Amino acid sequence: EKGTYPHYMLKEIDEQPLVIRNIISKYQKENGEIKLDEDIRKAMQAADRIYIIAAGTSYHAGLVGKQLIESIAKKPVETHIASEFLYNMPLVSEKPLFIFISQSGETADSRGVLVNVKKLGYPALTITNVPGSTLSREADFTLHTYAGPEIAVASTKAYTAQMAVLAILAVDTAKARGLTLDFDPIKELSIVGTVMETLCDQKEALEKIAREYLSVTRNCFFIGRASDYYVGLEGALKLKEISYIQAEGFAGGELKHGTIALIEEGTPVIALATQKHVNLSIRGNVKEVAARGANPCIISLEGLNADNDAFVLPKVHDYLTPLVAVIPLQLISYYAALHRGCDVDKPRNLAKSVTVE
Ligand code: M6R
Repeated sequence: EKGTYPHYMLKEIDEQPLVIRNIISKYQKENGEIKLDEDIRKAMQAADRIYIIAAGTSYHAGLVGKQLIESIAKKPVETHIASEFLYNMPLVSEKPLFIFISQSGETADSRGVLVNVKKLGYPALTITNVPGSTLSREADFTLHTYAGPEIAVASTKAYTAQMAVLAILAVDTAKARGLTLDFDPIKELSIVGTVMETLCDQKEALEKIAREYLSVTRNCFFIGRASDYYVGLEGALKLKEISYIQAEGFAGGELKHGTIALIEEGTPVIALATQKHVNLSIRGNVKEVAARGANPCIISLEGLNADNDAFVLPKVHDYLTPLVAVIPLQLISYYAALHRGCDVDKPRNLAKSVTVE
């Protein structure tokens, strides 16, 4: 039930700090170590390459997952759109492990790939919010995201839960490989929960941003580099599906290869600047679009912020920044849809779970 909330989406956005705490408690042993099925641990160790398969928002979580597993566990990962993999399967490595990410566990495109890889005899792990679902039953292993039922068509808490579980999986894999980590993953995840709470309390500021940048526009671009690019893709998906604004996410460096031609007087460009190593280059991109008339809205991180940034995120561990950076984007999308009179929880032409190809 949505209780006093006007929409499930807003309730589900607000539930994210709780979901993170829930995930911590489910994946932590009493001694503080990570609790994970030994068979999953073995499958991660045995794999020479990991293939993440998903659709929509879950695909965007998979992009961040690739970065987490590669940087923390030092295992090569490829993330693929399920419907593309289905008809254009790449050559796979000798010992692949397939990870399916799906909130519902019922997405037909992902299931199609699962059926094919099982026929080929490859091991499969499903990360899902619905453990009894088709993708969970048909895979060898399941990791539960413990986000609780997600009702709004626009996925919010399932996305951050998927990334949190992927971070835990990455850390567990690193430890099982004998790698030493210079951070305490549980502590860093609990900081994420606290920061999420702070962000959920900043609704007024985010509503104002939505009003200022998005109340009349026809389109909106999201730019970022590295993980900010992935979060930007998710921000664009969120905005387009519920507000019907044509929203697209781009890698900052790609702007000059075409997209910048679309910038007109007043075009909103939401730029994410949450990482030190790309801070200067993304701010360079912002200058380029501003010079062509864009209305830039910079979302940055404490310590990397500059005058006139529209919103500044509190600092969390670098690897986990996407989990907090998405929250303002979710809320901006929510308010943009609300201001434009859209049906936030049930956007036109969309179904919560896409069980046909
Ligand atoms: O249930 P799944 O995670 O497999 O669903 C995948 C997509 O259909 C889903 O994420 C969709 O993109 C959402 N409506 C995005 O908010």
